[in-house]
Amino acid sequence: MADDQAVFAEGVVKRFGDVVALDGMDLTVERGQVVGLLGPNGAGKTTMVRILSTLLTPTEGVARVAGFDVVRQPDEVRRVIGLTGQYAAVDEYLTGRENLRMFGGLYHLESSYVKRRSQELLDSFELSEAADRPVRTYSGGMRRRLDLASSLIAKPSILFLDEPTTGLDPRSRLGMWAVIEGLVAEGTTVLLTTQYLEEADQLAQDIVVIDHGRVIAHGTAEALKDQIGGDRIEITVMNIAQAGAAAEVLRSLGNGAPLVEEAKVSAPVSGGSTVMISAIRALDSAGIEVTDLLLRRPTLDDVFMSLTGHAAEDEQQAQPKRGRKGKTS
Ligand SMILES: Nc1ncnc2c1ncn2[C@@H]1O[C@H](COP(=O)(O)OP(=O)(O)OP(=O)(O)O)[C@@H](O)[C@H]1O
Ligand SMILES: [Mg+2]
Repeated sequence: MADDQAVFAEGVVKRFGDVVALDGMDLTVERGQVVGLLGPNGAGKTTMVRILSTLLTPTEGVARVAGFDVVRQPDEVRRVIGLTGQYAAVDEYLTGRENLRMFGGLYHLESSYVKRRSQELLDSFELSEAADRPVRTYSGGMRRRLDLASSLIAKPSILFLDEPTTGLDPRSRLGMWAVIEGLVAEGTTVLLTTQYLEEADQLAQDIVVIDHGRVIAHGTAEALKDQIGGDRIEITVMNIAQAGAAAEVLRSLGNGAPLVEEAKVSAPVSGGSTVMISAIRALDSAGIEVTDLLLRRPTLDDVFMSLTGHAAEDEQQAQPKRGRKGKTS
């Protein structure tokens, strides 16, 4: 055991009757790190976060937060963590400010401190104007920001964020990322779950992919991308009816199965830019007109697809596009 580990979990199993939510989950988060926990719906992300924040007890295994055992030392654990759950925990009938005061009370903080800290948080989450209105009049994004503010009232050194930006519009999401980056710059350790792979790519140094309650891959975003192979060639055909023919051309050049998404056709390739020249020639002689052609690094979405067999955002809305590290387009 080392205190410099913010989170250490080994062999964590959680069963709900017949349902095995976690099936031998291992997880380490070093202090000062941001770790992204990714997985499809039902993978066990929320269950893991709830165990680490002492809201659930594991059926088997060991979990420690800041060196404290989550089962034997729950009070100590609660003292060092902040939690923003997947669903809003704020009280609809209280105002934003009253909610913050209530959370301060739960942490037994001094009222003058809570008053000052609340104002600070209301300001930095752009909630000052709405601070004295009941939360039931807030928009979804405002509730989410108040939720995060509530978990920060005690300046926790370790923060668990369960889908902090789900349901936020692109602008609010970028705002939330900036807030999280600010906390990390001040030394906060963050474990976050997300369905938005771009979010993990942007914020997390280390990514843990889970499925069916187990870790199926682990590493930096770049390492995970390398793991599924080299670059991908991606073309957009002018006439969607030619997508199939274009896929055949890419198959003949590449070293893996092409993927067709409407007018976009991509395939893994090796050989860098020389392959681009061959592609242009082959597409041209096959009479296929192309509006866009590029060579790109695999994205985390590609990684997720290849690991779990389905996209991360099945039922989610589109994510904001922001410079993805390592992307060549
Ligand atoms: N209280 C409970 N009783 C029974 N089954 C549960 C309970 N809580 C979670 N589960 C089950 O455990 C599994 C993991 O659920 P969990 O909420 O941890 O997934 P998740 O990765 O957070 O999913 P999502 O992306 O949808 O939030 C699911 O099969 C879920 O149905
Ligand atoms: Mg969840």
